[in-house]
Amino acid sequence: MGSSHDHGSGRPAAGGRSPLLREDWQYIERPSLEAVTAQEWDLLGRQRNAFLAERRADQVMRMFETLRDQPSFGYEINMFRHGLQAASLMLRDGYDEETVVVALLHDFAYDFCVETHGEAAAKLIGPFCSERNEFLLRAHQDFLTVHCPHHHACDPMERERWRGHPHFEWVANFVERYDQTTITADTPELPLDAFRPLVHRFFAAPVTRR
Ligand SMILES: [Fe+2]
Ligand SMILES: [Fe+2]
Repeated sequence: MGSSHDHGSGRPAAGGRSPLLREDWQYIERPSLEAVTAQEWDLLGRQRNAFLAERRADQVMRMFETLRDQPSFGYEINMFRHGLQAASLMLRDGYDEETVVVALLHDFAYDFCVETHGEAAAKLIGPFCSERNEFLLRAHQDFLTVHCPHHHACDPMERERWRGHPHFEWVANFVERYDQTTITADTPELPLDAFRPLVHRFFAAPVTRR
């Protein structure tokens, strides 16, 4: 990437083109979307689909890997290792690949939007999930408080708002056995590379919801 700033004048400077993923692809050279032709939209759509098929899983992994070197705010481990531990235990216990990937990534957004990190994960990963795992991502925060009996501000009844939901027990089980327990330094964890093929297969599957 070139510099986006002309330090001499203080005005922003053009940064040059980003390279295309493949040499035989074409740029759309228009000044605005309004000027893009129907033929160019078709071309762009084809290139974008190939781009996403090739890059999406890697992009998710790169994002998750940014958590690797995060310090901890108090638990023995950071959120990167929390994800690794949850996924490792679920793999050990014979859960399906989709669920293992969901466990790995369920708290990816914790460090930048803790209040809504479940919804954020559901938005990103949910479209590739079964209904029960989309619900797990979205609602798991509400199922934790029952496991924090000494927390002054937590309402242990929070998960009751979901009582009767068809996937209540699924999420309750995840949180009890794999979420609230994966906070110690001596819980076994596989390296991230062990999950890379699972993540690639996960994002190669067709989107099931929007
Ligand atoms: Fe969480
Ligand atoms: Fe968690």
